[in-house]
Amino acid sequence: MATLTLTAPTALYRDPAVFERERRTVFRGSWQFLGLEADLARPGDYLAEAVAGYPVVVLRGEGGELRGYHNVCRHRAGPLVGDAAGNCGQELVCRYHGWRYALDGRLRSAVGFGAAEGFDPRDFGLYPIRVEAWRGFVFVNLDLDAAPLIDTLRPLDVLFGNRSVPTAVLRRQHPIACNWKVYVENYLEGYHIDAVHPALAAEVEAGDYAVRMDGAIAIHEVPATAGAAEGLWAWMWPNLAFNLYRGVVMVEHMRPVGHAGTRLDYIYLHQDGDPGMQAALATTERLTAEDRWICERVQQNLDAGVYQKGALSPRHENAVAWFQARVMEQIAV
Ligand code: FES
Ligand SMILES: [Fe+2]
Repeated sequence: MATLTLTAPTALYRDPAVFERERRTVFRGSWQFLGLEADLARPGDYLAEAVAGYPVVVLRGEGGELRGYHNVCRHRAGPLVGDAAGNCGQELVCRYHGWRYALDGRLRSAVGFGAAEGFDPRDFGLYPIRVEAWRGFVFVNLDLDAAPLIDTLRPLDVLFGNRSVPTAVLRRQHPIACNWKVYVENYLEGYHIDAVHPALAAEVEAGDYAVRMDGAIAIHEVPATAGAAEGLWAWMWPNLAFNLYRGVVMVEHMRPVGHAGTRLDYIYLHQDGDPGMQAALATTERLTAEDRWICERVQQNLDAGVYQKGALSPRHENAVAWFQARVMEQIAV
């Protein structure tokens, strides 16, 4: 018989100081989804966003390579780019006082700075970050010593097999008033399907639903009832999922917005004109609304402070246990 696993301390979901520690450990040290390689086709094309509060920019270099930097100028911390996407030409020009950087990060010119003894532009190159792409998806890692992306992704890569990723793009965003881990944990178990998703419960054998961990990938194993299509639902540490169903590849990025908020960024990749796309969208929007409702109520109850410790089902919540243990290990609780 399995030994009983208790839930993580409720402070993990309520304390701003915990989120600050997560930023510096969980998010700074993991591969974070950034966007689609198709949006970085030409040299100078860039995508910028904040990864758990770290503004970064990723661009296509002159030789076709992907490069990434903290979106922070070495002069007085101005932003190199001010919008989420664009083309910067052959250099990044700081938006504050105009220092100019080559696409490889070297400071080319401290424009108008004046002569100062001891000032060597070579000491003021951009702060680099790691960038890698997998099947057209771009990831960044703020830890320069991180293991390659494929080390994390390998089990998922095997499951993707020879599936291709369609190229038509539809995006949706959903703000959720809960800590990011409340939503992730909800994603990591099928235990709630019967109570929260009645329509889905009719399509799957919820009693046989299992989530299997393979390294840092959680794979949902869902025996479908007769007539339902085969799919793949997989999550990657710490906050990304790929949902494949009826030819649509949906990327689900569960982004923290401070300690108390989460934003789901969905990208649906589909064949142009695929009639299944509207059905996939309608189904997902309904499931997301149901998950949002329950996650926000769980957060309210965690915040109320009555609940302290619960227990995790050995049958259904093994991936939740894995996730909580990993978070606690990383933030050293
Ligand atoms: S902060 Fe970038 S040039 Fe001054
Ligand atoms: Fe759900």
